[in-house]
Amino acid sequence: MQKIKTRKMHQDQKHKPVLIDETLHYLNPKKGDKYLDLTAGYGGHAKVILDITGQYKGSCLVDRDPSAITFLDEKFKNKDVRLINKDFLSASEELYESGHQFDLIMADLGVSSPHLNEPNRGFSIENEGPLDMRMDTNQTLTARKVVNNYSEKQLAKILKDYGEEPKYVKIAHLIVSNRPINTTTELAKIVSKAWPGHSRTHPATRTFQAIRIAVNDELGLIKKSIPLWLKMLSPEGRIVIISFHSLEDRLVKRALREVGGNRLDSEFTELTNKPILATKDELVFNPRARSAKLRAAAKINNKKKGEYDANTGKK
Ligand SMILES: C[S@@+](CC[C@H](N)C(=O)[O-])C[C@H]1O[C@@H](n2cnc3c(N)ncnc32)[C@H](O)[C@@H]1O
Repeated sequence: MQKIKTRKMHQDQKHKPVLIDETLHYLNPKKGDKYLDLTAGYGGHAKVILDITGQYKGSCLVDRDPSAITFLDEKFKNKDVRLINKDFLSASEELYESGHQFDLIMADLGVSSPHLNEPNRGFSIENEGPLDMRMDTNQTLTARKVVNNYSEKQLAKILKDYGEEPKYVKIAHLIVSNRPINTTTELAKIVSKAWPGHSRTHPATRTFQAIRIAVNDELGLIKKSIPLWLKMLSPEGRIVIISFHSLEDRLVKRALREVGGNRLDSEFTELTNKPILATKDELVFNPRARSAKLRAAAKINNKKKGEYDANTGKK
């Protein structure tokens, strides 16, 4: 496996990229490869990959969060890489319709460390902040609107579907009966009433995940985008997707299995039968990697496949 000195490299970073050695192993970047990063964030993965390919022109970094794009703009100044401040579905539609192809595609899903560490972004259970949770700060739907305006039935469905929260009925009721709720810590305290006693994870973790997914339409965008990513991959191109919870991983697994597998007409080879997890070493300096799951696939080169089949007589 291609290894880099990860610990030293991450010391001064705003967001430590997860599974970097594994990403390099599965993407296998080469000089001149065109790279598309759909969740470029603070450019951790992008910097390492672009340093290897040297191919800034024709490569593209996408993030829906304007502050991530401002950071990337500074990080890659004087480099001819394109930055797109859009959600990855809109960006992928635009790139696909204009005929772009990439050799390497990467999506490191979910939130960044600044989202969780900056209380004013409203993602954190522990630190008081406004109920926001928007990755794209220009979008109108906020966690405050979901928490204070959605019906009890709508909230229960969100908690069940996006949080896999067993006490979804009770929590939806608690939320509605305690409105208005203005801050993250207020919400966390109210939800905790459904789970008296101590548990290893905060009792509001699933509720926060569910509301965040609803605010950012996270699963809907992933589901619609993966087919476009696969289409934009050039022959022998590789894709790596890192997810952080089972709902995301299920979508990724299904999408890659649908096009991969061992069928004669498979267009892709799945490079990971099982998701790749962080090593113990990585968890020591990057605890956020504990729930990361990496899956990868390579696009089959049909021209080569034809040649090979003709040679072996196996069509
Ligand atoms: C886990 S971070 C990526 C970190 C990045 N790989 C790095 O090394 O710095 C995820 C990033 O994806 C962005 N993001 C999440 N969902 C997105 C979507 N649907 N469209 C565009 N960006 C998205 C978030 O704003 C966040 O900056």
